[in-house]
Amino acid sequence: MKALILAGGTGSRLRPLTHTLAKQLVPVANKPILHFVMEQIAGSGIREIGVIISPETGPQIKQSLGSGRQWGVEITYLLQDRPAGLAHAVQTARPFLQNQPFLMFLGDNLVQGGVEEVVREFQREKPDALILLKEVPDPTAFGVAVIDANHRVKQLIEKPKDPPSSLALVGVYLFSPEIHQAIEKISPSWRGELEITDAIQKLIEGQKNIAARKLKGWWLDTGKKDDILEANRVVLDEYAALSNEGTLDEKSKIYGRVQVGAGTQIIESTLRGPVVIGVNCRIGNSFVGPFTAIGDNTVLEQVRIEHSVILENCLLQSVPGLEDSLLGSHARVVKGKSGHSPLKLFLGDHGEVIL
Ligand code: TTP
Repeated sequence: MKALILAGGTGSRLRPLTHTLAKQLVPVANKPILHFVMEQIAGSGIREIGVIISPETGPQIKQSLGSGRQWGVEITYLLQDRPAGLAHAVQTARPFLQNQPFLMFLGDNLVQGGVEEVVREFQREKPDALILLKEVPDPTAFGVAVIDANHRVKQLIEKPKDPPSSLALVGVYLFSPEIHQAIEKISPSWRGELEITDAIQKLIEGQKNIAARKLKGWWLDTGKKDDILEANRVVLDEYAALSNEGTLDEKSKIYGRVQVGAGTQIIESTLRGPVVIGVNCRIGNSFVGPFTAIGDNTVLEQVRIEHSVILENCLLQSVPGLEDSLLGSHARVVKGKSGHSPLKLFLGDHGEVIL
């Protein structure tokens, strides 16, 4: 069995970050989302992984994943010339997939507990497709499924205005080669994309056996800023450990699970976990509160921060209260010369400042 990771797309909802960074490489708890995906697939025993990349961000994805050796897998990169939909990505991958069953994993999704169990179940029961579902409070933003008492899928609808159930389609799918014939039968949706939900709906109409499993743990779809913050919160909550490879002066205090990278200096500061701080940072006269991840080489001086994701090489100076924030690499938030100086902003397209 093979796996297909979808790491193309535009990531428009995460601009301005995604003007320069592939959305699958945005870090949560200081690790790119795509690396969690790789770990979960490798953990299921699959060794051959195709990665769909776009012309714009493909080189970054390749640089980040390399040959796959780090995870004991072999990666084949598959260039999708335009973001024409999830089913179009499967079409693009056809020469790689050949006629084998495969696991498809959206490169910006994470599920608690990995996919080993569901892969085994698919291999044992051999349905034509198996999808994962999660109960969500507002299903209108997702693909929504209707299932019967035997967990067979009866209907799928993409982003319904009036959802027939609260079961959203998680970005992890298992397919037999039947999916390729189904994709041949669909045409682009109103948004111009070949939708995987339409292809699965074709399988349903052809009386194929589509199994569903309800996910009990968390599911994180990291399409927007608040999704990244939530993913960071959930992942830090679950995985953050207490480890200090940096240096801490006698005036600094650490409470709870706080991870500090090598070469990082903590000076006259308080860190309250779960928190992760990268390598070669300097945290001076600051408070870093729960659910914060700070990337490598970042400097904080007189800052109070919590529930935020700060990427590498940032500078934050004299910022008395920052929360629910997501800062791209090399961002600077500094105080003007006098206490009452006007705001001076230099923001990229789609930047946001909430005062
Ligand atoms: P989406 O989040 O649905 O799409 P997107 O990345 O274009 O984002 P936005 O809506 O903010 O512009 O994509 C889910 C995953 O699938 C994501 O990892 C990108 C990937 N993808 C492809 O690889 N090819 C595609 O044609 C599309 C649409 C998405």
